[in-house]
Amino acid sequence: MSIIRKDKKEWEKDILGARPAAKEQEECPLTLLANKYKTDKGTNRGANNGYTYTYEYYFNNFKDKKIKFLEIGLNNGGPEHGSNKIDRKIEDYPSIRMWHEYFSKGEIWGFDVNELKDPIDKSLNRFHFFQGDQGSEDSLKDFNDTVNKKYGNNVQFDIIIDDGSHAFYHQQLSFTRLSGLVKPGGYYVIEDIHWQPDKRRLVKGKLAEGEKPVYDSGQLPRTVNTKFLIKQIVGDPKKNNPGAPNSIFNKFKKLRPEFADDFINNMKNFIWEDPNPSGKCPRPQRLIILQRSKE
Ligand SMILES: C[S@@+](CC[C@H](N)C(=O)[O-])C[C@H]1O[C@@H](n2cnc3c(N)ncnc32)[C@H](O)[C@@H]1O
Repeated sequence: MSIIRKDKKEWEKDILGARPAAKEQEECPLTLLANKYKTDKGTNRGANNGYTYTYEYYFNNFKDKKIKFLEIGLNNGGPEHGSNKIDRKIEDYPSIRMWHEYFSKGEIWGFDVNELKDPIDKSLNRFHFFQGDQGSEDSLKDFNDTVNKKYGNNVQFDIIIDDGSHAFYHQQLSFTRLSGLVKPGGYYVIEDIHWQPDKRRLVKGKLAEGEKPVYDSGQLPRTVNTKFLIKQIVGDPKKNNPGAPNSIFNKFKKLRPEFADDFINNMKNFIWEDPNPSGKCPRPQRLIILQRSKE
């Protein structure tokens, strides 16, 4: 298979073409904040995903409420880019800064496998950090225990965003063990479903000879594509025929019997929402927005 490289001009045209005009950005407060703090959820950094246009639409109502919010994944450059160690100290947390300012009364939780570099910014006085691995049953249980202990049993979150390693296995285990925390009417979001940590994506020079990256697809437990799986459960079951013996649904049950039933049962509480309701998000195909049914 050959890789076709676009020349720089063509690539810039793609990116700029996908970038909304300055006036649109001005009209979207969350995009302005994303750009101020330089997270790629906005339109001036890295992949310029512009997810903020979608988030502004769904989350605007939560803005000045006392919500509980969790994001998995705090800063680019983590072990998903090919390190064989989990030894990075996170120096900044752009999306946490953005959420902290946007949700002016919200409790903002950040969950990351890497620790934070001292001193943690004290001006973020509603920010709580939890160090854990989203691929570990123990860490996910610890997180549940920690928030239950802090807020009382059966604590509920308004919004959870998974912007962690993006590995399918991690996305699926995290949803299984964290989605029960989402309150009716709240949201569970999975970002960057087009991207997998894989040795072909490694940042050059990070590994010495013979070392293996922590999240190479060959090292993580095998599973199916997250988007196709969710589509079969809450998308259009007739079209996707989940009952067929070789369906993604059945493959998932065979590959991950230890949590497949929990994943499927939890997913049935959610509704698949339009990832581009405003029509302004440049890359909606990279996003899964799930809303918990209002029981
Ligand atoms: C894409 S970056 C997050 C970007 C940030 N949310 C933003 O918008 O600027 C991914 C983050 O996921 C974290 N991560 C990678 N693997 C993880 C794991 N197994 N558990 C928890 N966090 C993980 C990385 O350390 C990194 O900070």
